[in-house]
Amino acid sequence: MVRSGDACYNWVPCERPKPSSSEVTRLSAALSRVEIASDFAPGSIQPGQYLLARLHAGWDPYLRERWQPVRFADRLMIVDRHTEAGDQPGQVVSLLGPCGKPIPIRRDAQHLLLIAQDAVPSALVALALKAVEEGRSVTLVLGGAAQAYPLDALPPEVEVLHADRDWKWPAQVDAFTWAEQVVALAPPETDFYARLWQTLNQLRIYVPERFAFGLFLPPTPCGVGACQACLVRGKRKDYLACTEGPALDLDKLAL
Ligand code: FES
Repeated sequence: MVRSGDACYNWVPCERPKPSSSEVTRLSAALSRVEIASDFAPGSIQPGQYLLARLHAGWDPYLRERWQPVRFADRLMIVDRHTEAGDQPGQVVSLLGPCGKPIPIRRDAQHLLLIAQDAVPSALVALALKAVEEGRSVTLVLGGAAQAYPLDALPPEVEVLHADRDWKWPAQVDAFTWAEQVVALAPPETDFYARLWQTLNQLRIYVPERFAFGLFLPPTPCGVGACQACLVRGKRKDYLACTEGPALDLDKLAL
């Protein structure tokens, strides 16, 4: 595979059968956790970055799928997958990546507020795990369908709150003023990011740049910035979620 500019860097094609020690663990009725042995160097995949996966050996007419790792350690990558995908131990997977950019957390941001609304929060869980290891305080708010995420898959140091249908939770105002950075995940076709941005601007005197990020995880037909299918409208320029995201600064978007 050829490197394609800055679009998707450090291409590392690998096609390996999972070792016999690999596991597919049921997390809930809908989610399974898959452990995959890979050749990616430790630290080469950061929270927010993703891989393009092909599950079938040889040629097939289907696009690669986005796989969003929850954790990567000792060359073992962990991914949450819908149980209906029917993953089996020993399955072969071809992985390309890492694609996209790491979620840009400031060094001095000690209090992180992560919000998942109607989405499987894998990217936020990866970020929470790393932030806890770095000694930061993390609150994770699960709303809508995200509430089904199994809590025992989360580190105990993370404070987990549940939001109601109207995206409200106790002490919401306190959480927004306590946070030194906010990262949210919601289906991009909803108005969730616009509502979040509006709420932040109502509650805080000043919302600086690089304070609130939305994660944009649309389908990635190419994953290298070639097809424009993942374009996100910005105030001054547009962004390609596959190469410039998935974390985009809400301050810069046309919400
Ligand atoms: S998926 Fe093709 S440009 Fe982003």
